[in-house]
Amino acid sequence: MPYFTSVGDVPRKRHTRFRQPDGSLYREELIGEEGFVADSSLLYHRGIPSEVVAVAPGEAVPEAAPGGLRPNHPMRARHLRPHELASGGDLVTSRHILLGNDDVLIGYAAADAPSPLYRNAVGDELVYIESGAARFESVFGWLEADAGDYVIVPASTTHRWIPLGEGPVRALVIEAAGHVRPPRRYLSAHGQFLENSPYCELDLRLPRGPLLDEGENVDVLMKTRAGFARYTMATHPFDVAGWFGCLYPYAFNVHDFEPVTGSLHRPPPVHQTFEGPNFVVCSFVPRLFDYHPEAVPVPPWHANVDSDEVLFYAQGDFMSRAGSGIGQGSLSLHPAGFVHGPHPGSVEAALGALRTEEVAVMIDTFRPLNLGAAATPCEDDSYTLSWHRAATGA
Ligand SMILES: [Fe+2]
Repeated sequence: MPYFTSVGDVPRKRHTRFRQPDGSLYREELIGEEGFVADSSLLYHRGIPSEVVAVAPGEAVPEAAPGGLRPNHPMRARHLRPHELASGGDLVTSRHILLGNDDVLIGYAAADAPSPLYRNAVGDELVYIESGAARFESVFGWLEADAGDYVIVPASTTHRWIPLGEGPVRALVIEAAGHVRPPRRYLSAHGQFLENSPYCELDLRLPRGPLLDEGENVDVLMKTRAGFARYTMATHPFDVAGWFGCLYPYAFNVHDFEPVTGSLHRPPPVHQTFEGPNFVVCSFVPRLFDYHPEAVPVPPWHANVDSDEVLFYAQGDFMSRAGSGIGQGSLSLHPAGFVHGPHPGSVEAALGALRTEEVAVMIDTFRPLNLGAAATPCEDDSYTLSWHRAATGA
C-alpha cells in the first residue's frame, strides 16, 4: 500500500509492552511482504493469533480439479457470459473460475450469503463489484463496497464478505499469485502518488475499526497452493484492538479513476489502474472521445503480441463491440496472436461521437490464459467469427 495509517489503539513504540485493560499483554503480529523488506503492518490482538485448535483438509483447489484449467486450444477469441452461471452462495466458495494461469485466476460470483472467514495464503485478491453492495470485514476493520468498487485484499488477510441489501452481489474476482499494487510509475520514490497519476491517496477508502468480535473455536478457510485447509482458531481472528503500517486492504471506486484523453487515440496503458505478477489491470471509464476533427474515436485493430487481453464489460454500451453479442456482464478474451478491433460498422458509427459512458475492467496477462471449468457453460462460441461481415450483416 502506498502510505502509512493507524487504526485503533497502538503503543507509543513498536515491540514494547502494550497492555490490555485487564493488564495482560496484547499479542503483537507483524504481517509483511517480501521477507519483511517491503510493506508491513503491526497488529495488536487480544488473543494469540497462532493458537490453532485443529486443521482439516478442505476441498481441492477448483482450478486443479478435473475439468479445471485447460488450454485455449485451438486458440480463439472467447466471449463468456457469466451472468448465465448459477447465482447464490457466497463470495468466496461460490466463485466460478473462468480463466487462469500460474499468475492469476479470474472468477465470477453472484453472492447472496455471508462467506466463511477466509484467508488466501497464495496471493492478493482484487474484487471488482459489478452490482449490489457488501460489507467487507477483516482483521484490519471493515469497508463498505458498492458497485464500481475495487477491493484489494492483501495475501493472508483473514476476512469475510457479507452481502447487504436486496439482490446478489455480482463481482469479478481476480486472484493473484503475488501482490497487486498501483503501478510503480504512478508513485514517487517514497510511494506517494504523483501529480500525473489518474488517482491518488484521497481516492482510496481505508478500513475502519477496530472490529472486535468475540468467539472461541472459530473456523477459517485457508487457500494454499496445495488446496484448501480448514483451520479452527482458539479465539476469533477479529480481535485486533489497533494496528498501524502500510499493508492493509482498501477500496477504490472505478469512477474515481480520472481518464486520460487526447486529440487522437491513446493506448491502453493510460487506463492502467493496478499491476500484479505478470498482469496489469486497466479501467475504462466514462470519458470524452478523441477530439481531433478527423479523429476515429474507436481503437484500431490491434495485435497485442505479448499478452492475452480480458475485458469485463461492467456498465454502459460498448460502441466498438456493436453487433458482436457483447453486452453488460460479458467477458471477452482476445489472446496473444489474435488480431481484433472494432466490429463491422462500428468505425463508421463512431465518427463524430463525443463521449462514451462505458465502464470496463481489462486484465492483460503476460502469459497465456487457460479456460476454467465455468467458461464453457457460459460461452458464446460464435464470437471468434463475429468480425465476419456475414455474421453481422454489415
Ligand atoms: Fe483489445
